[in-house]
Amino acid sequence: MKKVLLVFGTRPEAIKMCPLVKELRNDKEIELKVCITGQHKEMLAQVLDAFKICPDYDLAIMKENQSLFDITERVLSGMRDVLHKERPDIVLVHGDTTTSFVSALSSFYLGMPVGHVEAGLRTYDHWSPYPEEFNRQAVGALANLHFAPTNRAKDNLIREGKKEDEIFVTGNTVIDALKTTIRSDYNNEIIEWAKGSRLVLLTAHRRENIGEPLRNMFFAIKNVIDSTKDVKIIYPVHKNPAVRSIADAVFGDEPRVRLEEPMDVVDFHNIMSRSYMVLTDSGGIQEEAPALGKPVLVMRDTTERPEGVEAGTLKLIGTKKDDIEREFKRLLDDRNVYDKMSNADNPYGDGRACIRIAKIIKEFLG
Ligand code: UD1
Ligand code: UDP
Repeated sequence: MKKVLLVFGTRPEAIKMCPLVKELRNDKEIELKVCITGQHKEMLAQVLDAFKICPDYDLAIMKENQSLFDITERVLSGMRDVLHKERPDIVLVHGDTTTSFVSALSSFYLGMPVGHVEAGLRTYDHWSPYPEEFNRQAVGALANLHFAPTNRAKDNLIREGKKEDEIFVTGNTVIDALKTTIRSDYNNEIIEWAKGSRLVLLTAHRRENIGEPLRNMFFAIKNVIDSTKDVKIIYPVHKNPAVRSIADAVFGDEPRVRLEEPMDVVDFHNIMSRSYMVLTDSGGIQEEAPALGKPVLVMRDTTERPEGVEAGTLKLIGTKKDDIEREFKRLLDDRNVYDKMSNADNPYGDGRACIRIAKIIKEFLG
């Protein structure tokens, strides 16, 4: 029997890899091992609980305010030991985190094939998002199988000289995840709290935004809600202490802004599906919101998800205070703009990405 080792370490990787774990676990022809690096701790545990996944290995590398050096050296030595022990026939990594890059690098050092899930996303700017653009290009340089979520991602890989027969357009596994999390009978105290107001979901955490850009975002949002009384903000704050201190300082005593702990993915998806719109610098949320028909103002200078912009659901608004204030206000005030953004199509697949990926892996392994 062929052995597949699947590796992930952060919340978004987990949300997009757990459906694949389920798919491969059901397959009698594959021996599956799951290794988590623990780049995230509580935020990863929440996802594993929600999908009821128990990993075979936990490298438990996280420490407070970890640097890229900390993550890199700990994942590299941890993966060396797991790979030596398990000797998998293929290693599957996801996306663009430092866990993904270093796990792929470790596999390459030991001559093991790598499959890259969510391959081919690009901004072609190494500093935005940082360090994710480098990470995904580096994984792409090593991978033997590229699972591209869209045709555009495939085109990027072809342009970079990857072989066409090693690239597969599968859709994004996040749509597979959404199929299992969204509940028509969902309710929650936050939805009750927001009754009679428009609920705006906010997240922000990017490494390159910590400092002035985050402060700009938060002050812009504060200014808009000061002048728009029927808006309430729900912000599940990332565990990063550097993000938390800025969020607390700007929003601390604002009654119409609720700062929450990171939410369970089922709560998060269902609250998004009941919110009016989203403000974010996240990557994954740019894929989920179009599937749920929610307009998103992306508080970044670049996006690797142009499909959502072209579909009309996403608008890239940068990190300058005046720009964010103007665009947020416009989306709240102009019903035509809002309707256009919320009626766009989902460009990220049909929720069957994991079935396709599993089939391709089996063909590859013979
Ligand atoms: C990481 C990824 C980023 C991804 C993000 C998703 C890298 C370099 N960055 O960034 O691509 O978008 O995850 O959220 O791979 N922390 C906790 N508990 C947790 C998680 C984090 O306390 O469960 C705190 C720790 O103090 C940690 C800090 O957050 O040191 C930052 O975590 P880290 O994984 O280094 O960076 P992220 O910004 O989360
Ligand atoms: N998410 C969640 N709980 C939260 C906030 C986000 O489950 O409180 C989910 C969200 O649905 C998406 C993913 O986490 O699937 C995005 O993670 P994040 O923004 O941390 O990372 P990125 O996608 O930017 O890499």
